[in-house]
Amino acid sequence: MCGILGYVGPRAAAPLLLEGLRRLEYRGYDSAGLALLHGGAVTVTRRIGPVTSLAEAVDPAAAGTTGLGHTRWATHGRVTEANAHPHLDGAERIAVVHNGIIENHAAIRALLEGEGVRFRSDTDTEVLPHLIRKFYQGDPLEAVRAALHAVQGTYGIAVLFADHPGVVIAARNGSPLVVGKGDGETFIASDPQAIAGFTRHVVYLEDREIVRLTAEGWELTRLDGAAVTHTVEVLAEELVWSDKGEFHHHMLKEIHEQPESLRRCLSGRVVPEEGGARLGGFDLTNREIATISRVAVVGCGTSYHAGVVGTAAMEQLARLPAYAEVASEFRYRNPVVDPHALFLAVSQSGETADTLGAVREIQLKGGRVMGVVNAVGSSIARQCGRGVYVHSGPEIAVASTKAFTSQVAALLVAALMFGRTRHLGAEEGRRFGEDLLAVPKLVEAYLAHPGPIAQAVELLSEAPFVFFFGRGVSQAVAMEGALKLKEVAYLPCMAYPAAEMKHGPIALIDASTPVVAVVPTDGMRAKTLSNVQEVRARGARTILVHAEGDEDAPALADISIPVPRTRSALVSPLLTVLPLQLIAYQVGIALGRNIDRPRNLAKSVTVE
Ligand code: AGP
Repeated sequence: MCGILGYVGPRAAAPLLLEGLRRLEYRGYDSAGLALLHGGAVTVTRRIGPVTSLAEAVDPAAAGTTGLGHTRWATHGRVTEANAHPHLDGAERIAVVHNGIIENHAAIRALLEGEGVRFRSDTDTEVLPHLIRKFYQGDPLEAVRAALHAVQGTYGIAVLFADHPGVVIAARNGSPLVVGKGDGETFIASDPQAIAGFTRHVVYLEDREIVRLTAEGWELTRLDGAAVTHTVEVLAEELVWSDKGEFHHHMLKEIHEQPESLRRCLSGRVVPEEGGARLGGFDLTNREIATISRVAVVGCGTSYHAGVVGTAAMEQLARLPAYAEVASEFRYRNPVVDPHALFLAVSQSGETADTLGAVREIQLKGGRVMGVVNAVGSSIARQCGRGVYVHSGPEIAVASTKAFTSQVAALLVAALMFGRTRHLGAEEGRRFGEDLLAVPKLVEAYLAHPGPIAQAVELLSEAPFVFFFGRGVSQAVAMEGALKLKEVAYLPCMAYPAAEMKHGPIALIDASTPVVAVVPTDGMRAKTLSNVQEVRARGARTILVHAEGDEDAPALADISIPVPRTRSALVSPLLTVLPLQLIAYQVGIALGRNIDRPRNLAKSVTVE
């Protein structure tokens, strides 16, 4: 979603800001803008569309060593140049970029209009420069502080003043900001990716903190004026920018990175000789594990799907009552939070507003919540304080692929660890651990020979509607496959538990509605194959994803896609999801879609 970048230092700001904005592109946006401070004046350039359009509009030799950049994902107001950031006050002396939503913007706007202020955009953000101007009496920090006291909602903001070259003020409440310290230069960004190419030394702002940046460093206080100190952290290697390499798209590259990302996730954590696993980040004693009353996973989209697999594993391996829930629903239903339960917040970006909100709700109610997060140092990881990193490496494509398999793998490791302490014998634990450790090689083998994906693409590209189904953990895989196809190919489709089809959705089935069935070799295989027969009897053409060596499944498939066999049914999602990722990618290509940045979507969903 929206991205913020700011620079103060000796170098020309424009090229640095444009480079940083390119690194924020993966988050999804629809317009971009730049503010440069030079010669006592602020120059703003904004364009709808990609950062390249903005770059074409900015003089490469533009002077100014203090500046702000922004990528906007429209919330309030259409995608227009006037609504793009930065926004200015009436005198065009104060420029603001903002992520988040100012909830009382209508009331502030009415008040300011009553005082004669003329607005130039439809955005909630524009109240900020006008409000800051209202409180400005020569001290930029105090003006921003006073304005923010009048504001309700969420924000990460960065502000520059024409009267104060070499100064940027930034503040955070609910939208992440990170300060970066270079050699005689200072950065501010909403995402460490934006500055990882310039510096690795960072300080993460907490909510209701405000900072004054200069080339020499920063002064950080709370909005109420109280002093704060933060230690400087060093950005993880993982944040180093990844390009597409030999691949045409980040999505395809990330699909092919899965053997390696899974190895990183599992390495040192599964210990077959002990029949168990270790996740140091959970920081739980065996006694604490033994007294967990249940496990609840919250997450959104793909991360929620990973949670569904994870909770099935918690139930089966650790005999723990477990369920997964969409974070946006959980946080607002006044949930019962059992203090003996363990909540897990699953997120690739670690910035998803609904998941972060759920974490805070759990903590407010006295619950114990840990993160299962990819982005190191992200808001959810920091808010939880404890948890595990899934180590899939930077995921740039909007459609999540390698993060899903790493999230599933991390949750399976957690289930093994809990299981071994609670109900699982050493031999069963050892077998499960071995099956997990075998997965990266199996993934590699499958990706080298992915089967008849092209035939599946031909069938699906022309379909008006596609059904996905499975049972047990394969239902989560079906949901994930359908989500991928919607996101990347914009194809209408639906995932349903296989046996539920006959309770209604089967009415939609005819020869024009292909069905993708996920049928690994597990206890539900025979029953799912019966469900496949039911839809075939009504004319549906079927694509079956099944284990290699299954002799029955191909007979019920128009297109049969075998994946490597695994002993443990709980591990099968790490393999059965692979063809569904490839199918979504290839259908997207066939239909000419914007694979890495599908329409209307953002990589990191920081609004609720
Ligand atoms: C996945 O392909 C989606 N882009 C989306 O559903 C995503 O999984 C969801 O927004 C949650 O994001 P998170 O993992 O960063 O919290």
